[in-house]
Amino acid sequence: MSKILITGKIKGEALNKLSSHEVVMWELDRGMSASEIIEQGRGAQAIITLLSDRWTAEVMDEFPNLKIIANYAVGYDNIDLKEATKRQIAVTNTPSLEVNVAVSEFTMGLILAIAKRISEGEKYAKEGLYKGWKPDLFIGNNLQGKTLGIIGLGRIGKMVAKLANTFGMRILYFDENPSNDAPEAEYTNLDDLLSFSDFVSLHIPLLESTKNLINKDKINMMKKGAFLINTARGGIVDEESLVEALESGKLAGVALDVHEKEPQLNHRLMQMDNVILTPHIASATHEVREKMTEQSVEAILSVLGGRLPDNLVNRAVVL
Ligand code: DGY
Repeated sequence: MSKILITGKIKGEALNKLSSHEVVMWELDRGMSASEIIEQGRGAQAIITLLSDRWTAEVMDEFPNLKIIANYAVGYDNIDLKEATKRQIAVTNTPSLEVNVAVSEFTMGLILAIAKRISEGEKYAKEGLYKGWKPDLFIGNNLQGKTLGIIGLGRIGKMVAKLANTFGMRILYFDENPSNDAPEAEYTNLDDLLSFSDFVSLHIPLLESTKNLINKDKINMMKKGAFLINTARGGIVDEESLVEALESGKLAGVALDVHEKEPQLNHRLMQMDNVILTPHIASATHEVREKMTEQSVEAILSVLGGRLPDNLVNRAVVL
């Protein structure tokens, strides 16, 4: 029997498979602090952790028996991989077809919502301001014939390309590894993508090299009146530069599901009508959460059973 800490309330049939272990699940509505993780997880051999938990060397030092950190997310920028590997802790994540579908659909939702001013219109209607049809009420944009620039043509980026293509959009993409299996998307360098796209959507991980990639200089390269959509990680975008670009009219609108200082939102962005902010919910579907639980549980059972888990992200770890 091993001790397993789950740092947030998660659901899924697969949890039953852990019944022969001591499972501690954090049931409170708020996330755990580092000291709560250390205290509640003392002696744990396996952890299912949320993307809001930070796994630094100092936290890992408190877990001498830890064999696996199963990250309940695709992105794992919350975990110091080098330090985990040094301690021979396996780190796994939760990529799946389900999450690709959920995030790409959500991205299209944001593109549609910002282009068609759906949130603005809804707020206006619910506030009782709608007094009669007017030809100039909330004029938005058609997607057909517009250019979508996708930064990062991985599994999710490719699905966004397919979906956007069915709306008649032209698709440009930039990726460090150009791809042969996305016929609807045309490769360009990053600067050209920024200057030719009406909509720019981010689908890259947060790394040292992508931190604040979308900064003042890059925003200046964007087309006047373009839209920016981010469902990847908040740290990729410098939000202060976004505020300036929205205030000057350089950008027509922004839709962010992820934020630079989560869970805090940028107060100036919150006040702008042409900004949609959602609380990191692009992957939040029943199908995805069920799958994530299954993947995390299976990864833990593999490692505790001495087997190589699926979706191991630090392959250098010696199991
Ligand atoms: C992920 O999986 O990385 C999403 O951002 C959260 O589920």
